Amino acid sequence: MKPVIAIDGPAGSGKGTIAKKLASHFNFAHLDTGMLYRVIAYLDVEADKIKELSAAKILETAREIPLSALKSDAVSLKASKIAKSPEIREIMTQLQRDFAASPGDMCDGSVLDGRDIGTVVIPDAVCKIFITASPEIRAARRFRALKRDNSQITYDEVLESLIARDKQDQSRGIAPLTLNDSYVVLDTSEETVKESFLQAIKIVKNSLKFTER
Ligand code: C5P
Repeated sequence: MKPVIAIDGPAGSGKGTIAKKLASHFNFAHLDTGMLYRVIAYLDVEADKIKELSAAKILETAREIPLSALKSDAVSLKASKIAKSPEIREIMTQLQRDFAASPGDMCDGSVLDGRDIGTVVIPDAVCKIFITASPEIRAARRFRALKRDNSQITYDEVLESLIARDKQDQSRGIAPLTLNDSYVVLDTSEETVKESFLQAIKIVKNSLKFTER
């Protein structure tokens, strides 16, 4: 299997941005697994129907939905709610493993970002990074993004909803957001995207070198 980089962390930590940049830097395929949960939540797809889909097919469908709708606070909370279902998680986990197993001939590996990539989906990923930041900073980032989409939401509402989602993601019975010793932690609270990205490159290079020995 081609190498997999697992990026996990809470909402608004910057994991999606870093994952995307790492994928492009290392010529790896990128899968934003949160987007899969968002599409399923937005379209209310039942478990039976998800089984017939692939990650690529779900992302293709996502392109037909306005990004502002998929990223809205209501869909974020709904995604977190359906993500508690053991049946849905089992199917989604398989879709993500299939993606990692076949990232395409042109790609040298894959980067998956989410909540449980390094703990459940691909526990033997060559590199695992846990990206985090303080709740206030994460809420400020989300607030700016939602404002760009003309949302009427206030900063306090974003913070409250982000804390509620963190709690839901960290306390669920199956595949909660958690980290262990196999992760390198990257706190992006006080860093620019460029600084965090440069650190992430170092972490990945280190892991890849380590596995080649
Ligand atoms: O990463 P993002 O904020 O887009 O994820 C939306 C929601 O999908 C999360 O709050 C989480 O509940 C769920 N999710 C998950 N496992 C993943 C990715 C996302 O449970 N691997």
